[in-house]
Amino acid sequence: MVSLQAALTREHRDIDAGIEAFVADLDRGVIDPEPLLNAFEALRRHIYLEEEFLFPAIRQSGLVMPVLVMLREHGTLWQLMDTLTELLEGNDRADVGDVLLSTCRELLGALDQHNSKEEPIIYPHAATDLTEEAAADLADFLETGTTPDGWACEAAR
Ligand SMILES: [Fe+2]
Ligand SMILES: [Fe+2]
Repeated sequence: MVSLQAALTREHRDIDAGIEAFVADLDRGVIDPEPLLNAFEALRRHIYLEEEFLFPAIRQSGLVMPVLVMLREHGTLWQLMDTLTELLEGNDRADVGDVLLSTCRELLGALDQHNSKEEPIIYPHAATDLTEEAAADLADFLETGTTPDGWACEAAR
């Protein structure tokens, strides 16, 4: 079994790759929403599992400020996904390609900022701060879990 830390980091890479695939199409003038919408589904689920299964224990072990920063940044990522989803749904404006491109770049930048702190500061605690039971729940969710309908991250409620 791969470590939780490795599995969570792998999700970051996969989500980035989906957004980058959408941007690569867009650069050629093609709007194919599928890789972006798949990446959003994965990112919402990733944020859900962090906030529900991972952060509470890490916060309790004393990492209060870093977890608050992560929660706030999730709010920014959530907002950018909402903006992009609306743009894709109502893509009748003439400059939609430009706006999609600049907003995707903003999202990729925000993800980089977020992940480059989360990976070294938060994720090592996945191995030390979770009870055996909580670690097993998280591992199960990583394999088969889905975000509950209507769930929004803490900073977007
Ligand atoms: Fe996160
Ligand atoms: Fe993450």
